[in-house]
Amino acid sequence: MKKAFIFDLDGVIVDTAKYHFLAWQNLANNLGISFSEEQNEQLKGVSRIRSLEKILEWGNKTISEEEFTRLMTDKNEEYLEYIKKMDTTEILPDVPRVLDYLISKNQGIALGSASKNARIILEKVQLQEKFEAIVDGTNVSKAKPDPEVFLIGAKELGISPENCVVFEDSVAGVQAANSANMISIGIGNRQVLHEADYVFNDFTEIKEDFINNLVLTKK
Ligand code: BG6
Ligand code: MG
Repeated sequence: MKKAFIFDLDGVIVDTAKYHFLAWQNLANNLGISFSEEQNEQLKGVSRIRSLEKILEWGNKTISEEEFTRLMTDKNEEYLEYIKKMDTTEILPDVPRVLDYLISKNQGIALGSASKNARIILEKVQLQEKFEAIVDGTNVSKAKPDPEVFLIGAKELGISPENCVVFEDSVAGVQAANSANMISIGIGNRQVLHEADYVFNDFTEIKEDFINNLVLTKK
């Protein structure tokens, strides 16, 4: 049976949250707003626009539309400076093993990311060829927890949603997978990702037997 396995990017394939953190922290501090790693957790899976809105809410700041656009551009430019230096060593443990196993079993593989930088990152870590479909922040109009990004991925692979499996590290992403009627697999903390159908700390815990069972299971 052919299923589709849809991977989020940031926090699932690569640990780019640390770069988002540095860039958002710099922006926040320049505005006189403090920004902690705990707050950064709340921005995982959240779109660029919504992330800046949240930071401004936390700091109780109101700014003009022009300033908002300028700050988003500045943040992204700083983020891109970190991304430029990325290479294959930044792929999270056992991601290539799972991707290659799925490919050897003729399963569909898609990327479902909120990021507009997804394609650049995939190229930097040389994984773009593993994906039959890439859906990112440039293809969607509604941010996670809306299921749009995953539904487009399923459609591009020609697989119905109940035959899709999503790997996600964010609460919003798990909710998006669930409302798309797909199997959701949380990568990270069990307490945080308790809405997922399954949760693993990372891909080293995802064994071939588990994947074989997923191929046979519908949501
Ligand atoms: C998500 C990240 O994958 O993409 C968020 O978890 C980020 O932190 C969002 O804000 C949008 O990414 P970008 O690269 O387009 O700013
Ligand atoms: Mg993520």
